[in-house]
Amino acid sequence: MAHQSDLIESDIEAYLKSHEEKSLLRFITCGSVDDGKSTLIGRMLYESKMIFEDQLAALETDSKKVGTQGQDLDFALLVDGLASEREQGITIDVAYRYFSTDKRKFIVADTPGHEQYTRNMATGASTADLAIILIDARKGILTQTKRHSFIASLLGIRNVVLAINKMDLVDYDKAVFDQIVLDYQAFATHLREDGVVPFEIVPIPLSALKGDNIIEQSPKMPWYKGQTLLAHLEDVPVQQADIEKPFRMPVQWVNRPNLDFRGFSGQISSGSIKVGEIIKILPSAKQSVVKSIVTLDGNLDQAIAGQSVTICLEDEIDISRGDVFCEAGKPAEVANQFEATILWMAEEPMLPGRSYLMKTGAQNARATITVPKFKVNVNTIERLPATKLELNEIGECNIAVDRKIVFDAYDDNKDMGSFILIDRLTNATVGMGMLRFALRRASNIHWQATDVSKSTRSAMKTQKPAVLWFTGLSGSGKSTIANLLEKKLTAMGKHTYLLDGDNVRHGLNKDLGFTDADRVENIRRVTEVSKLMVDAGLITLVSFISPFRSERQMARAAMEDGEFLEIFVDTPLEVAESRDVKGLYKKARAGEIKNFTGIDSPYEPPKNAEIGVNTAEMSAETAADHILLTLEERGILI
Ligand code: ADX
Repeated sequence: MAHQSDLIESDIEAYLKSHEEKSLLRFITCGSVDDGKSTLIGRMLYESKMIFEDQLAALETDSKKVGTQGQDLDFALLVDGLASEREQGITIDVAYRYFSTDKRKFIVADTPGHEQYTRNMATGASTADLAIILIDARKGILTQTKRHSFIASLLGIRNVVLAINKMDLVDYDKAVFDQIVLDYQAFATHLREDGVVPFEIVPIPLSALKGDNIIEQSPKMPWYKGQTLLAHLEDVPVQQADIEKPFRMPVQWVNRPNLDFRGFSGQISSGSIKVGEIIKILPSAKQSVVKSIVTLDGNLDQAIAGQSVTICLEDEIDISRGDVFCEAGKPAEVANQFEATILWMAEEPMLPGRSYLMKTGAQNARATITVPKFKVNVNTIERLPATKLELNEIGECNIAVDRKIVFDAYDDNKDMGSFILIDRLTNATVGMGMLRFALRRASNIHWQATDVSKSTRSAMKTQKPAVLWFTGLSGSGKSTIANLLEKKLTAMGKHTYLLDGDNVRHGLNKDLGFTDADRVENIRRVTEVSKLMVDAGLITLVSFISPFRSERQMARAAMEDGEFLEIFVDTPLEVAESRDVKGLYKKARAGEIKNFTGIDSPYEPPKNAEIGVNTAEMSAETAADHILLTLEERGILI
């Protein structure tokens, strides 16, 4: 590595060139501050005398600024800084530091180690080839050691360095080291028995503070015959490079600057592509031949994983953002139901049945998640039953999406097999996940096309089908008004059906209680039923508390435009409670009923209901007439 004094421009060029050809190892360090994580990273940066990539750009213009890390450590760390990815309400703190040695380039993801930051570690680990798991020699294997190992393995890391640190504080004692290695191997066996994919474990005794076995073989531990940490990082084989995997390029956008040019732009996520090769475009499964590969630096004959390119094809095919170009002989899979591992990252729990936005590559879909098959206690690696996932919890779930998704299993291709989940109301990222496999159900059940259509059925009834969705507190008057309205509609010759919460909960939904998760499922089912009723051509009245905006929004989205009318029965809690027709408020106040809406379970009032009525101010009769009038005005009653 060049020193400040003798660094001249040609050296820099030569350096940059050799630098480009070196392989890259991405790794993550896991451990808390107490374990000496920062000391270790600092020591590696310091001793390897590397030049930072950020600085390299500066080198080309001003070689005077160049220094070895021996002199410029503080500066270098400042330059590199802490990169945090902030998203509404969620902060993911991962510091990526770059350095290189003569043999290899490195990117180290440094993440805060506290328990609550599982998501930070997962974010850092998702792109890493190797994990350094730090252990304090005085403390041995801790709960967090297990947690880190499990998450690393879950995210597909196959190389683990067990960095047994602070050996200076245990007199460089071989027996201490050996015992920790034995303990860890016992734990790793336990992991394997639990079906967790095994990883290579390389234990190294070191002292980050004193520099033992980091770069130089420590004279204090002659009993250790293995490699130093840096030597191991330089030599460890990285996994099958993305470039050797089948070709995949998700189309980020369609480029059509003029009528003569039509190209598809994106970053190649794996494999390579040459002009003249056949590709398969998924999900349509159409095929074409690569006519040209265009980049900002001119046309290429071949492009590889990591490059951003624009591909032009021989044929005019309808292709849009989110489609994936694949090697024709080894295409990705297409499915709409999957088994997935989900890491939940939001304060609000993941509720089965709720609709989330799923993003994978450039594809977006509406996703619902089933009740987890199990969740994993990341500290004991035990599988536990679960009805939902809380912040930082990891679970195995089925996911159903509303359109076909092109994917590879995460274990085969991290890019093509990972996804994030977004709350559709707040737009915050609430989870990340890994697609394990497609559920066969997805491909074995087809939609059966029928000849008699919704319009035929509703035309026979001379009406427009609709959903009149009543929401409001228990005792607000929903059912009374809905009942009156149904009578009036029937008297007018309309064909109707009233779905009432209390009644549906006696049959279809009798297995459901009043937890948030059960309410979500309650509304999901009644949404599906109302959809069938609308398809049958009926004016469908739904009277459910339906306390959450998200599920009401889901119900709305399930219907056609203009078909869904939200009716907010806006009766104040005091009024509903004073009526207490069923005596339930009294019981709830006495603590005999848990999760009672308005008392110890939330009600989220609508923001944009089509109709609002308040039974404290008007009679149920007046409210029903008011709704009827609105239906006429909106042309529902033709
Ligand atoms: S929802 O919240 O899931 O939409 P739904 O409308 O089906 O509720 O059922 C509400 C009815 O169940 C109430 O009108 C009341 O009679 C009864 N009930 C029993 N326990 C509760 C509870 N904990 N919270 C609200 N309603 C309850």
